[in-house]
Amino acid sequence: MRVLVIGGVGFIGSHIAEHFSSRAQVRVLDNLRSGFHENLAGLDVDFIEWSITDRDVVRKAVQGVDYIFHLAAMVSVLESIESRITLVRNRGSRMQTNPTPGTIEIAIVRG
Ligand SMILES: NC(=O)c1ccc[n+]([C@@H]2O[C@H](COP(=O)([O-])OP(=O)(O)OC[C@H]3O[C@@H](n4cnc5c(N)ncnc54)[C@H](O)[C@@H]3O)[C@@H](O)[C@H]2O)c1
Repeated sequence: MRVLVIGGVGFIGSHIAEHFSSRAQVRVLDNLRSGFHENLAGLDVDFIEWSITDRDVVRKAVQGVDYIFHLAAMVSVLESIESRITLVRNRGSRMQTNPTPGTIEIAIVRG
């Protein structure tokens, strides 16, 4: 079984990565915006440090995986409201603040 955890160095995502690391091949996609790489310390996972705003990277990351857990988010409500119209610079590319629909679309197309 192969599992992709998007936002996998964050609070919840890293626990999911830890849970599956002894049961499956785990791949993590996270740009370290608010998560910490140390959360994966000692775990046998493939780590891709990049943003989900980059569709090409998301397409590659979903290749060959059986399950996808999507936890990447701008968790602060205040920050998300303040920047909802603004285009933000993110690691890897310049996109709108909510890339989740595009990520889900890619996952669905991949099947
Ligand atoms: N923590 C809670 O108690 C709680 C409760 C209910 C719901 N949630 C929801 O669960 C989700 C995850 O919460 P969390 O507490 O683990 O947050 P978190 O901030 O610890 O984790 C989010 C992760 O997403 C990553 N990330 C952000 N933008 C990214 C991007 N563009 N590309 C790739 N990675 C990106 C961050 O680096 C971080 O590692 C959020 O949607 C949150 O609203 C959390």
